[in-house]
Amino acid sequence: MRAARSLPSGHGEPVVPSLVQSVAFDYGSAAEQDAVFGNERPGYVYGRYGTPTTAALERALAELDGVDTATCFVTGMAAIAAAVDACAIARGGRVVAQEDCYGQTRALFERWSRERGADIAFVDTTDHEAVEAALRARPSALLYAEAIANPLLRVNDVATLARLASENGAALAVDATFATPVLFRPAALGATMVIHSLTKYINGHGDVMGGVVGGSEELGRAMRDRTILDGAYMPPHEAWLAIRGMRTLALRVRRQSESALALARHLAAHPKTSRVRYPGLPDHPQHELATRQFGGLYGGVVSFALREDTKEAAFRFLDALELAASATTIGDLFTEVLYPPISSHRRLPPQERKRLGITDGFLRISVGIEDLTDITADIDRALDRV
Ligand SMILES: Cc1ncc(COP(=O)(O)O)c(C=O)c1O
Repeated sequence: MRAARSLPSGHGEPVVPSLVQSVAFDYGSAAEQDAVFGNERPGYVYGRYGTPTTAALERALAELDGVDTATCFVTGMAAIAAAVDACAIARGGRVVAQEDCYGQTRALFERWSRERGADIAFVDTTDHEAVEAALRARPSALLYAEAIANPLLRVNDVATLARLASENGAALAVDATFATPVLFRPAALGATMVIHSLTKYINGHGDVMGGVVGGSEELGRAMRDRTILDGAYMPPHEAWLAIRGMRTLALRVRRQSESALALARHLAAHPKTSRVRYPGLPDHPQHELATRQFGGLYGGVVSFALREDTKEAAFRFLDALELAASATTIGDLFTEVLYPPISSHRRLPPQERKRLGITDGFLRISVGIEDLTDITADIDRALDRV
């Protein structure tokens, strides 16, 4: 491929050539262009079909997750929608999904049930008998789970879920956004597809949105078809920023995990909190599994309930924060606190939220890379106001 042509400005000067680089390529001949369009030779035809920068990110993500192909999308939700639709819903396939997955993922699945008649069963994926029963109730195309679930931080046993899925003829999709490839590689434990919201730890700087689906060559072709026709392909500038962010992924996740463990221990001993949820604490229901599966790191997110388990107390806590931002995301450089009932899990009916354990005083902290003493002082100050 020769360098992209620069456009004449009308004043005898070229305009900046990089502006057209992702949408206009010079093939040398029409026959070569035909070969690229026909997938007979590698190359690029149009920004939505693939760009060199996004492809570089995809190669890096495939390597990180130990999968054959990775396809990048504009958001994590676009990645989830493409993967689950292509592998199950669009073919009329049944999905067995984790009941306490990310609230918007659940809302999307519920919308598909209502609007498209999709057969989706929600189960506690840490209860393997329930998973097996749901998979066997009717032929199922896909089992869907999060490695560490948002926001209750249940940890899924990916090797066991992969076995149950394959014994029942289903694929296993794992959203590993909270775990990241630093903690583990779901594909090595048998997951058929691995999904991340790149918006979180992988970019890690809170300035890019993106998502990725990784898996086999066949899955890659199906995902590429989605990005081309549905149009949710990640543009090159975002991909470039994500590549920049990924360079410090291991350093950030290690530090955030270490600080999160220390903060979880601190919160567990604090008189103003009741339930502290962190996979690194011995009282977490899947603590041993998390230790085995993740090799000693437990991620950067800690959830807890205030002893005064009310919305008013949660609002007082949020309003008193000075260092931490009250924000929706996780995996940023900075500490961010989320109140799920008004944000990520707003669409869940209040009684279902409570049943899952997302009570009125339940909060989620995404621990940043700041000094741990500053983070702890800020949280303590806010707890004093509750
Ligand atoms: C576990 C998980 N998966 C997927 C998503 C969706 O990602 P995005 O916001 O990039 O669409 C989120 C967002 O918070 C999430 O927490």
